[in-house]
Amino acid sequence: MIYNSVAGLKAKLSALGLGTWVFGGGKWWGEQKDDVSKAVMAAAVTAGVNLFDTAPFYGFGHSEKLTGEFIAERQIRKKSIISTKLGLDPDAPGFHNLKRDRMKKEIEESLSRLGTDYIDIYHIHWPDPAVPVEESAKTMRGFYEEGLIRSVGVSNYSVAEMRRFMDVCPLHFLQPPYSMFNRSIEKELLPFCVKNGVSVLAYSPLHGGMLTGKFFREGYSPPRDLRRKGMKDLREPYYSVEKDAFVKTEKLADGCGISPAAFALAWLMSRKGVASVLMGARNTAQMEENLKSVEAIPDKAVLSQADKILNQMSADLTDIDNCGTPSYFIKSADEQKSFD
Ligand SMILES: NC(=O)c1ccc[n+]([C@@H]2O[C@H](COP(=O)([O-])OP(=O)(O)OC[C@H]3O[C@@H](n4cnc5c(N)ncnc54)[C@H](OP(=O)(O)O)[C@@H]3O)[C@@H](O)[C@H]2O)c1
Repeated sequence: MIYNSVAGLKAKLSALGLGTWVFGGGKWWGEQKDDVSKAVMAAAVTAGVNLFDTAPFYGFGHSEKLTGEFIAERQIRKKSIISTKLGLDPDAPGFHNLKRDRMKKEIEESLSRLGTDYIDIYHIHWPDPAVPVEESAKTMRGFYEEGLIRSVGVSNYSVAEMRRFMDVCPLHFLQPPYSMFNRSIEKELLPFCVKNGVSVLAYSPLHGGMLTGKFFREGYSPPRDLRRKGMKDLREPYYSVEKDAFVKTEKLADGCGISPAAFALAWLMSRKGVASVLMGARNTAQMEENLKSVEAIPDKAVLSQADKILNQMSADLTDIDNCGTPSYFIKSADEQKSFD
């Protein structure tokens, strides 16, 4: 395993972190068995992964509970870095809720589900348009000063929101989407983080599974969960453009002797400013394949060939998304309708 030093934490972070969203199962991911999820966690820990990324919203507490149980069973709390989040509320408009009372309730509930008295990295999951950034930053600063959290993160924030947050509270981490198929953070967010010493934890590094290549194989059928409806990438014109880029980068992966999934994770680990790549895996076979990424980081010449292919893909899609890269989720009701 590769480990990276980060501001805000004494321990080094494993360059591959374990994303536990899929362990929550539910509407988005469909059925997921707990014993399989625990086997995935065990494989990751055996390979040296020390970062667990979870959230109350992942299976409405289930992912946090399972993560806490696993860490307790293995007696690895001191060696583990737990990252979790707050700010999403299934009963709130647009799911956003960063009211102070709700934040206080959420941290208590997360600590209890995780079976711990501190959280290593605590993120605001999404900004809440109804609550000024400064107000939620003040509450996070309170948690930090009380010692309930060891470091502070935000997720899905813009540079402007991060600046306002940092005026009130120390900020150590940003958790944005980042993958070979979604490079929108490279424009502003990543340079801002590098300049300001904010470490990036990259989420959805396989673009929800697209970068494994399985959705591009002949006779593929869309996943039997909400990705089928929620991912733009599975429909035209995204699908064909991405398939073309995938076929080209797969050749580079072959040349390195690794799978496309491992190549996509290794590509991300090589990006400046990325402290850890939060990979998701449903079973141990996927996890073992993904873990191979740390053994074969491609050299600079190969990485720059990949960049050329991906730049071309972005150029082909510029008329679709403002940032020039396809987005993982369908955002508006109208977009959703057109995909039904
Ligand atoms: N902060 C946020 O707002 C936010 C949002 C999203 C994610 N995250 C974090 O990032 C983590 C990872 O993101 P993610 O789960 O969206 O995406 P991901 O890592 O891009 O995709 C994970 C999914 O791809 C498939 N997969 C993984 N490895 C594979 C392999 N080797 N071969 C074939 N299929 C494979 C699996 O699903 P199937 O087998 O079902 O295809 C797996 O669940 C999450 O667990 C979470 O911790 C954070």
